[in-house]
Amino acid sequence: MSFVIPPYPFDRLEEILAIAERHEGGKVDCSIGTPCDAPSPMVLDALAAATSHRGYPRSVGSPTFRSAISAYLQRRYAVSVPDDSIAACVGTKEFVASLPGYLRLRDESRDTVLYPATSYPTYEMGARLASLRALPVAMVDGMLDLDSISASDAARALCLWVNSPSNPTGRVEDLSRAASWGRQNGVLVASDECYSEFTWTSSPRSILQEGSEGVVAVHSISKRSNLAGVRAGFYAGDSDLVGFLSLARQHAGLIVAGPVQEAVAVAYGDDSHVDAQRARYHERLELMGTALRDAGFTVEPCEGSFYLWATEGRNGFETTQRVAEASGLVVSPGEFYGDRSDTYIRVAMVQPLSRLEIVAQRLRESSLNR
Ligand SMILES: Cc1ncc(COP(=O)(O)O)c(C=O)c1O
Repeated sequence: MSFVIPPYPFDRLEEILAIAERHEGGKVDCSIGTPCDAPSPMVLDALAAATSHRGYPRSVGSPTFRSAISAYLQRRYAVSVPDDSIAACVGTKEFVASLPGYLRLRDESRDTVLYPATSYPTYEMGARLASLRALPVAMVDGMLDLDSISASDAARALCLWVNSPSNPTGRVEDLSRAASWGRQNGVLVASDECYSEFTWTSSPRSILQEGSEGVVAVHSISKRSNLAGVRAGFYAGDSDLVGFLSLARQHAGLIVAGPVQEAVAVAYGDDSHVDAQRARYHERLELMGTALRDAGFTVEPCEGSFYLWATEGRNGFETTQRVAEASGLVVSPGEFYGDRSDTYIRVAMVQPLSRLEIVAQRLRESSLNR
């Protein structure tokens, strides 16, 4: 039977958005994790001043792009990754969604993609788009239960996805354990690190700190530098894999625009704008965490990312509607992140503090928890 493409999750929120908009002062949309804050002027200047419009860029990225990232990895994570083990991607969603198909070309004897049972939906979708087997890995206390993966599933696995800090749960994963499991089982560990610099209880971590062999780290400029609209990121790690993927991706025409590469190199050369953004997210997490707890929610500890993962014990879609009615806040229901998360909601800190204060006030005045 042919694959029936499901609706895009956020398209299912139209009715909820309309309910929230009825509030005087309008809705406060914290459903999609799309940054609302301004990018660094330095990065925008580099985009405007770029000179690389004319010729075709290479899929791997320009020498300037790759060396800026190598320097970033050294500075932020104390890892030494040669430029030829780093390559560009057109935003990381594209990379996440297409990786399984390329891995299958490399090893036709394997057909399975392993991913956290509660996670960003594109890990599963990447497997499905390539007609592969998508297998969620159970989680215990918010962490991957690697011991639950059977030997036969490990033998069929093309890769294991990890995401730390996690969207949606905000948990920090044990990357050292994941890398060891991958090496013991001969399975590539693909580590999605797009929130790695937004950690609240520990310093930023990368799987590359465990060595490059058998792993690939995936980083996005979208959240780090508020540049989701320019579509760029990078992947780095196992040199054979990066070589294979970058050649395949060059054939497929997956190329980051030249001017974007120039701006991204500038963004990865600077940490001060990321530190300022961290402070904004932290302030918003504190405010909304308190507001939700006061309204009767259980809010899971947020060790990283800019999401709150919360529950009032009901069905998450029902809670999403109740919250929109009570406060104009739009969240995403947990079922977007896996079947087992359907009593949760995810709240993204992508609105200014002044808007979140309005939500907090409306929640205080609402009948939500009465
Ligand atoms: C865990 C995770 N990975 C990847 C992405 C994709 O980001 P982008 O395609 O903007 O790089 C997102 C975006 O929300 C995400 O949450």
